[in-house]
Amino acid sequence: MSALRRLSLVTAGESHGPGLTAILSGLPAGLRVDLDLLARDLARRQHGHGRGHRMKIERDHAEIRGGVRDGETLGSPVALWIENRDWANWRGVMDPQAVDPEAAARRRLHAPRPGHADLAGGEKYLRTDLRDILERASARETTARVAAGAFAKMLLRALGVEIRSGVRTLGGIGAGRPTPAWEQLLAVDDGSPLRAIHRDLEPEMVALVDDAKARGETLGGAVTVIAHGVPAGWGSHVAWDTKLDGRLTAALMSIPAIKAVEIGHALEIVHGPGSAAHDALGLDAGGRFARATNRAGGLEGGITNGEDLVLTAYKKPISTLREGLPSIDLDTLGPARSQYERSDVTAVPAAGVIAEAMVALVLADAALEKYGGDSLTELLAHAAASERCRATWLVR
Ligand SMILES: Cc1cc2nc3c(=O)[nH]c(=O)nc-3n(C[C@H](O)[C@H](O)[C@H](O)COP(=O)(O)O)c2cc1C
Repeated sequence: MSALRRLSLVTAGESHGPGLTAILSGLPAGLRVDLDLLARDLARRQHGHGRGHRMKIERDHAEIRGGVRDGETLGSPVALWIENRDWANWRGVMDPQAVDPEAAARRRLHAPRPGHADLAGGEKYLRTDLRDILERASARETTARVAAGAFAKMLLRALGVEIRSGVRTLGGIGAGRPTPAWEQLLAVDDGSPLRAIHRDLEPEMVALVDDAKARGETLGGAVTVIAHGVPAGWGSHVAWDTKLDGRLTAALMSIPAIKAVEIGHALEIVHGPGSAAHDALGLDAGGRFARATNRAGGLEGGITNGEDLVLTAYKKPISTLREGLPSIDLDTLGPARSQYERSDVTAVPAAGVIAEAMVALVLADAALEKYGGDSLTELLAHAAASERCRATWLVR
């Protein structure tokens, strides 16, 4: 099952190959392309205290190679190309046609890293150089997702939906704090070292990252993503694969190293009684349905309920450790330490930006499913008509 039903996203490219391609099809015609948003999100993905040397080499820029004319989408597939600057250093190892055997042998991966796709992928694709697995399993691929996600954000913005994220916990710091709300994410400073939701905890988090780096350790954490302005009625309870909770969590779980996704206050409410788990219904001052709390995180029955959509993704510590982990050398089948590959100490802030992109893609897809339309004009007209229907639903 793809988490996407109306849109489709294909990415291609290896971490140290010539570059990355993203092809996003299913967007309506007439969407104005915001190049600043695209550039900003790619830069935000590169940012964060604890990233490795690679992020100093790259200056990610997405070149539009299809689907857009004179700054507007055409309804045809949007093709994006992001060059890998590091490719210049890897030509002999990663050339698509002919590698330099000596250079390739020097960079051969034969002592797989626990926690990575290295060994499982080698066994599956029968590759004896596990670099053939590493290169695609690397989170470098998420650059292409972020570029495509920026287009999804453009569509959502036209519908009044905004998405933001922040680092909720890092290395356990912040774990006791309650689920954040939209206003807290609005206050997250993209220029801060870790994009922390709780600024008071950030110095402690930065110190922990420095300490982990000094010790050759790595760290994980949690990011919260909130979509604000999503109307009620996206997604559906009617079938297992139309439920938006499943589609959103599948998309977030597909981000490398994300091991769990929480909707709303799920990890708090499961331990308490039902009376403290749900959101009391009422009417706001304008006579619209409203909930006193948002423990459900904006989803009931797999359908958006008009409250903020709140998702927290939990990322495991980076699997590449400087001193390696117990492994097996594929050449000797004897014990070995896993090989080291230049690596981040932590990438939790970047995971937040990738999570925004994945949530944007699923929500844009749900919006297209709900409203349809070949052009943005049609889509917006359908959305307005849908709102009118909902407003008069109970008027007799
Ligand atoms: C933004 C980002 C950057 C990452 N950087 C690294 C890294 O430098 N080194 C590493 O070993 N893993 C890194 N990872 C995690 C691996 O990509 C991931 O653990 C691996 O592909 C295995 O996938 P799985 O953990 O989902 O099974 C990163 C993940 C993300 C989201």
